Amino acid sequence: MDFKLTPEQEMIRDMVRDFTEKNIKPVAAIHDEEKHFPFQNIKRMAELGLMGMNIPIEYGGSEVGVIAYSLAITEIAKGCASHAVTTSVTNMVAEVICEFGKEETKRKHLPKLCSGEYPAGSFALTEPHAGSDAANIRTSAVRKNNNYILNGSKALITSGEVSGVTVVWAVTDRNAKKGKGITAFAIEKGTPGFIVGKAEEKMGHRASTLNELIFDNCVVSSDCVLGKEGEGFKIAMMELDGGRIGIGSLAVGVGFSAIDFAIQYVKEREAFGKPLSNFEAIQWMIADSYTGLEAAQLLVLRAAYLKENKLPFTKEASMAKLFATETARNVALRAVQMLGGYGYTRDYPVERFLRDIVGTTLYEGTSEVQRIVISREILGG
Ligand code: CAA
Repeated sequence: MDFKLTPEQEMIRDMVRDFTEKNIKPVAAIHDEEKHFPFQNIKRMAELGLMGMNIPIEYGGSEVGVIAYSLAITEIAKGCASHAVTTSVTNMVAEVICEFGKEETKRKHLPKLCSGEYPAGSFALTEPHAGSDAANIRTSAVRKNNNYILNGSKALITSGEVSGVTVVWAVTDRNAKKGKGITAFAIEKGTPGFIVGKAEEKMGHRASTLNELIFDNCVVSSDCVLGKEGEGFKIAMMELDGGRIGIGSLAVGVGFSAIDFAIQYVKEREAFGKPLSNFEAIQWMIADSYTGLEAAQLLVLRAAYLKENKLPFTKEASMAKLFATETARNVALRAVQMLGGYGYTRDYPVERFLRDIVGTTLYEGTSEVQRIVISREILGG
């Protein structure tokens, strides 16, 4: 067993760390305050190769592998969870198009996703009445000659209003068994009948968008189909496995930022005549936080390693996402506690870390969904 990163992985991690320190950290609070999508930084990150990290070079990707991707998302999240979730979902969308798109679809969308010409990609599975129970979606796609006509709506779609291409899941066979009649489509922004609805007011991740999407007699060519008709649900599940590595990596980054900020604070702040860091109660919080986060990162990297080596990783990705997001949420809560009353104010970033981390226990399958996936894998059914 080798825990050592390759020189290339170290180089990518350090490059992203440096970019985050110089370009993301200084603007994160203001983007959060103003709910401003970071167009400029996202474009620069695409130019650094961060938007198609598992996409072959011939389609514009950087093809650096899943471990490098995980390390990059963690470093970005240390600066801003919104930048990181946009990057994570865009990579996931690029991967689903790369894996299941027709050659023409790949040539059309992948270079634009990878280069930042599209500010993002989005993944439209969730509907107002179907979140965790994703096989229960109702958006329909009816075939007419060489086209499909889509009707319905999607909810809570990350980057919905800014993405250049959206992967949309719709029911193509109402009579099929649950989960068997769903098909995935890659739909370009601006397609007539594809309407971007309201943006949600969120607790955290305020510099990323979460939109309603509406399909009103939206006509798309059958060339937009990803994979085969009726295979969409399986495709969604496979891609979400990879997405969960991204969200787990993100949580690790936010968690480290929270505890590192709190550590700096308790070394300087004094109470009862000595720095807070001299109190055992504080030292134990630091020890528990670091132990949890390092364990979480090991789980995340194990899932990344398995995916990179084309080994099964469904259970491991869900374990990593579950453990990393819940651990980082506990760490962010502790960080607020370590700052005392100041931790509760907007003067310090730990309240933002806490607001941001809550989202990670919900995105790409709630903690409860991860427990379903893990227990089914263990029980074998
Ligand atoms: N890989 C490949 N195939 C898979 C799979 C996987 N990981 N998981 C399931 N499948 C297959 C199953 O084998 C089964 O196929 P067969 O019938 O041929 O055997 C089929 O898919 C149906 O699987 P299930 O019976 O397990 O389906 P289910 O209805 O019981 O659902 C679930 C299981 C795990 C709860 C699933 O619905 C799920 O993951 N829900 C959460 C959805 C989710 O994560 N949504 C997030 C939205 S995207 C997002 O948040 C992005 C963003 O914007 C940030």
